[in-house]
Amino acid sequence: MTLAEVEALHERSLDEVAAVADVAALEAVRVRYLGRSGLLPALVRQMKDVPAAERPEYGKRTHAWRAALEGALAERQAALGPVLREEAGFDCSLPGRWFAPGAKHPVSRVIEETAAIFARLGFSVADGPDIENRFNNFTALNTPAHHPSMDASDTFWLTDELLLRTQTSPVQIRMMTQYLPPVRIITPGRTYRRDTTDATHSANFHQIEGLYVDTRPVSLADLKSTLAYYAQEMMGAKAGVRFRPHFFPFTEPSVEVDFSCHVCGGKGCRVCKMSGWIEIAGAGIVDPRVYEHVNLARGDRAYDPEKVYGYAFGFGVERIAMIKYGIPDIRWLYENDMRFLSQMA
Ligand code: DAH
Repeated sequence: MTLAEVEALHERSLDEVAAVADVAALEAVRVRYLGRSGLLPALVRQMKDVPAAERPEYGKRTHAWRAALEGALAERQAALGPVLREEAGFDCSLPGRWFAPGAKHPVSRVIEETAAIFARLGFSVADGPDIENRFNNFTALNTPAHHPSMDASDTFWLTDELLLRTQTSPVQIRMMTQYLPPVRIITPGRTYRRDTTDATHSANFHQIEGLYVDTRPVSLADLKSTLAYYAQEMMGAKAGVRFRPHFFPFTEPSVEVDFSCHVCGGKGCRVCKMSGWIEIAGAGIVDPRVYEHVNLARGDRAYDPEKVYGYAFGFGVERIAMIKYGIPDIRWLYENDMRFLSQMA
């Protein structure tokens, strides 16, 4: 390429820059001349074939061309820019659009974390329906026929036999009716009670039930070590567990389970009402009468009370969420207030 030809190309490129009508065309010009396989880099590559004496002049001209062309491109880009942004509906000078990352609800978090912890101990997750029958929710769980929990003032009855389950415990019955021992499950789900809503009560809440029944001895000590492991995984390595004697119709003996208060570490604070402990769950050794009801439903003796052993527990999901995340009012979990929910992100 002669020097005159370089000059001509220089001129032509500037004319082309001046002639483009939009930024896309301008970009095409830039690529044609300055792109990796553009004319200018090609020229530079040919430089080695130019006689040494002429090389400095070639170099100077090429350099001047590049400088002029880059200047012209930038100028034209600035002039065309706003027009294109409008055309494409895109103004790169505006602040970016904010995408909320989304966050898991505390109740879902507790359920998922619990399932993961118990999975490590060999528990699978089982499910049962929100609409239960009297047998699974009460009778098979050894609840006396006229127990107050069955009253219409406590339970949402749908018919004489169907109700919105008041606890996740009926899933124990469903599982034992369906499967032979050993059964090792947890079952998270919604539960319903005719409770007046306040800071710690809701008519619709969640429980996680656990059941382990085996043909080898299963003791209260097994239950305690399992729940202690859960407490530490869920609340931190320093968490402790305490059992207090209690009564539930479907376990014997029955206990109420406290976790050491994670807020004060057991020293006593407002959250634990100065006791250092927080009630988390009901639990116990499965009552032989529950097995008899199960056998009746199954039509066999797969759950012979002389041959099977088991423990069960049930805790409130909201309770754990409130303690773990320091939520003072259960209603915050249901109001869908973004100021609250976005803090879980
Ligand atoms: N279902 C009981 C409740 O709602 C909690 C409970 C207590 C579940 C003892 C259990 C258990 O499995 O063994 O208050």
